[in-house]
Amino acid sequence: MKDKVRVGLVGSGFISAIHADSLKRCAAAELTAVASPTKGKAEAFAQKYGIAHHFTDYRQLLALDEIDLVVIGTPNYLHCECTVKAAEAGKHIVLEKPMCLTLAEADQMVDACRKAKIKFMYAEELCFAPKYVRLKQLLDSGALGHPVLIKQSEKHDGPHAPHFWDVERSGGGVTMDMGCHAIEFFRWMLGRPAIKSVYAQMGTHVHGSKTRGEDNAILILEFANGVTAVAEESWTKLGGMDDRAEVHGSKGVAYADLLHGNAIETYSATGYDYAVEKAGSTVGWSFTIYEEIWNYGFVQEMDHFVECVKEDKQPIVTGEDAKAVMEVLFAAYESAGTERKVMLPFRSPAAKPIDLWKHELGRAIKPTTT
Ligand SMILES: NC(=O)c1ccc[n+]([C@@H]2O[C@H](COP(=O)([O-])OP(=O)(O)OC[C@H]3O[C@@H](n4cnc5c(N)ncnc54)[C@H](O)[C@@H]3O)[C@@H](O)[C@H]2O)c1
Repeated sequence: MKDKVRVGLVGSGFISAIHADSLKRCAAAELTAVASPTKGKAEAFAQKYGIAHHFTDYRQLLALDEIDLVVIGTPNYLHCECTVKAAEAGKHIVLEKPMCLTLAEADQMVDACRKAKIKFMYAEELCFAPKYVRLKQLLDSGALGHPVLIKQSEKHDGPHAPHFWDVERSGGGVTMDMGCHAIEFFRWMLGRPAIKSVYAQMGTHVHGSKTRGEDNAILILEFANGVTAVAEESWTKLGGMDDRAEVHGSKGVAYADLLHGNAIETYSATGYDYAVEKAGSTVGWSFTIYEEIWNYGFVQEMDHFVECVKEDKQPIVTGEDAKAVMEVLFAAYESAGTERKVMLPFRSPAAKPIDLWKHELGRAIKPTTT
């Protein structure tokens, strides 16, 4: 057994910085390499975090013998390629959400990881966020009776990088970007029962000039155990990130607000450095979060995945879970496109989920850079 799990980061953008900050707090992890294509970026990132190796081509990172675990934080359209190559190189994998662009890619990724006998872990941090972990404990303990209705929502005023807005690279709008969190949150919270049907309402209300993706969505999932789940997702909500959940049971109810509920309510006439993700202005009233990556579960997530590699344990969230989320995402876009409830299991050969809403089946993904 190795004393440390040596980790390589693919990507050096927003989420990779969170991964690096989180891994720095994991005693069993050693940040060993980082790769991203823009000249000088991986190098600057390596310097900032004290990482020994940096590359512009992630395949060089995969060729390093000493790397045990690869954490993939690239744009969505690269997830399949990076995962398959990392599996072929024999590395354990943590993959950011959403899994990929097509259902065929999802199969290919799970198969490649199974064949390589490596751990394929899906980075759904909501399953590690301390407030949501406590909420699940409440539900599991019977404190709320049996669940009837469960809700989860994520809202902010839109993503920070162009690849999210370009549906050829992202696969869809806010449902792909944030609805995927809600779907796995519901599955995890309820003990992963089968899903019977999906209904979705989508619209592009504010950002039509910069994206063909939906900027608001409501999803209704019907679980085989009778529970209804409602996800509300928005890219048009001002004032910083909102992340909340509700569990309504036969004997009680619980409300959990991940960010504003944990924040310092602040009034500042001058404004200040940082309140919370995507807060925009800090002049006037704002919600000042503290220990943001811990409250969000990122540190606990990386700690768990590193331990799974070190101790050969079964991860809480896997590539199979990521695949189940993809099926629901495709069904949601099909529902928005056909204006009807879609029954599961659902398969589609679409080149990306949003094609089922916009009816553009089969468009090629343009090779673009970030
Ligand atoms: N779990 C979460 O809450 C969360 C939050 C943000 C982003 N994400 C996910 O993380 C992924 C990245 O998002 P981001 O916000 O970090 O985007 P970003 O634009 O900030 O960073 C993307 C990084 O990928 C790199 N990259 C691009 N092409 C590459 C290639 N061929 N090889 C290696 N690196 C390459 C870019 O150089 C950049 O460093 C997306 O899939 C997104 O959905 C998850």
